[in-house]
Amino acid sequence: MNNKSKKRIFCVAPMMGYTTPHARRLYRMLSSEAFLFTEMIATKTMIHSKNRDLIIENDSNNPIALQVGGSEIDDLKKCSKIAKSYNYDEINLNVGCPSKAVQKGSFGACLMKKKSLVRNCLEQMKNAADIEVSVKCRIGIGKEFNYDFFSDFINEIIKSDISIVYVHARNAILNGLSPKGNRNIPPLNYDFIKKIKAEHPKIQFILNGGIKNLENAYKLSNEYDGVMVGRLIQNNPFCLSKIDKIFFNYSEKKAINEKIINEYFNYIRPKINTESIFRLLSPILQIFFGIPNSKKFKTDIHENMKNHKLDELESLFLQFIKQKKEILI
Ligand SMILES: Cc1cc2nc3c(=O)[nH]c(=O)nc-3n(C[C@H](O)[C@H](O)[C@H](O)COP(=O)(O)O)c2cc1C
Repeated sequence: MNNKSKKRIFCVAPMMGYTTPHARRLYRMLSSEAFLFTEMIATKTMIHSKNRDLIIENDSNNPIALQVGGSEIDDLKKCSKIAKSYNYDEINLNVGCPSKAVQKGSFGACLMKKKSLVRNCLEQMKNAADIEVSVKCRIGIGKEFNYDFFSDFINEIIKSDISIVYVHARNAILNGLSPKGNRNIPPLNYDFIKKIKAEHPKIQFILNGGIKNLENAYKLSNEYDGVMVGRLIQNNPFCLSKIDKIFFNYSEKKAINEKIINEYFNYIRPKINTESIFRLLSPILQIFFGIPNSKKFKTDIHENMKNHKLDELESLFLQFIKQKKEILI
């Protein structure tokens, strides 16, 4: 594998409501190398929102991709230019989201049925700006596995000359199943990714879906071009402190220490009057994941969140780190 492909060997999946600008800031403090994604942002929001800066600020969190949802060519072209101007490394087209709202807007997973349109979208996004363009898709639509459908889709879309495809290795079921159900119920099928890679060795296929721990992620990263991990990071973002060591041969893991807390609070302090305290603190609240006897800290933190007492909150997190250092390391 060359250096370029190693860049995406460990990716944090796009997750609406979770991979917010604040979470991305924290992720970057914990890993210098993990490849990050924004949440999916609809083209219309990206183009017209008055809060665009707040929504898509990159804040030098590279390497990072901006994920977009849409299927109107002119809008997607504009989004490519915007992503470039905000210094993203990549713009990614969402062809995997099964939600009803997204289907209504004619984007997300339903686009797997419109492979020529997807090819055209990607082609035009590529031509619009000097930025890497990629796609995130499923392996199919509906209940049945159909390798030919998947293979035909990939054959068509790579004519756009893209070279990176992230695949959530399960079908999307577009009727009668919630987005949550669509992340659990359709069975995983990693073999489709093995097979498609054999057909297109020059394309990077990044494997996503059901990777539950870093040991498994590392093992799979040796078998595929890279891995993309979602819920593991949603539940326990602090495990990112191990990524540089495991995947990028750093000699040490990143320490989870007072410096991280101070740095994160320095980042959120200027935002406290313009952003909800829950959104600002929710990434760091996951520090309690799997740590025993944290109940008192959690109660005190929630109490202080109600009153926006940032100094008290910072000091509680610092006490927690001090008390649990042995376990956190
Ligand atoms: C809360 C949540 C929000 C998600 N939002 C997005 C999204 O905005 N765009 C996207 O392509 N996938 C989204 N996904 C799907 C993930 O990117 C990923 O494909 C899926 O969770 C499977 O990976 P995992 O098993 O490692 O979690 C979301 C998943 C979760 C749990």
